[in-house]
Amino acid sequence: MKKILVLNGPNLNLLGTREPSQYGATTLPEVEAMCRAAGQRLGYEVECFQSNWEGALIDKVHEYGRLFREGQALGCVFNPGALTHTSVALHDAIKGVEPLPVIECHISNVHAREPFRHQSWVSPVAAGIVIGFGVQGYLVALEGLARKHDAENPHLR
Ligand code: DQA
Repeated sequence: MKKILVLNGPNLNLLGTREPSQYGATTLPEVEAMCRAAGQRLGYEVECFQSNWEGALIDKVHEYGRLFREGQALGCVFNPGALTHTSVALHDAIKGVEPLPVIECHISNVHAREPFRHQSWVSPVAAGIVIGFGVQGYLVALEGLARKHDAENPHLR
């Protein structure tokens, strides 16, 4: 069974208690359980990983670049948190493992928030973007990744 990585960056371990008016009351373990269940329905194994450290996120992207090349992974759903707006290193990591499809995902509508959240270093190298659907966005991103793969590989269906 191919794997999909659900990757979360800094401060997303605080989901459930962090600014609930912005990010809701669902905790990260609950989001991860929802993602694993959605993966099962779609026929993929979902691995979840969260880190507050940029380098750990980069290492995980590299690992999935390798798994994708070996035919063992489908792609990655990635909420880079605040690193979205600052990290050239994450941009380069994703670019460096092309064609691993990375779907950028944000719980809140970053474009309706402060101007510093309108810029993303990840968007130019993302295969798709899901913004503003709350934590349901992770499931939208997983489904989009699977549908995109199916549409591009009709012979595998
Ligand atoms: C976020 C939006 C970012 O601007 C913020 O720094 C986060 C969460 C979101 O999911 O809405 O940590 O990525």
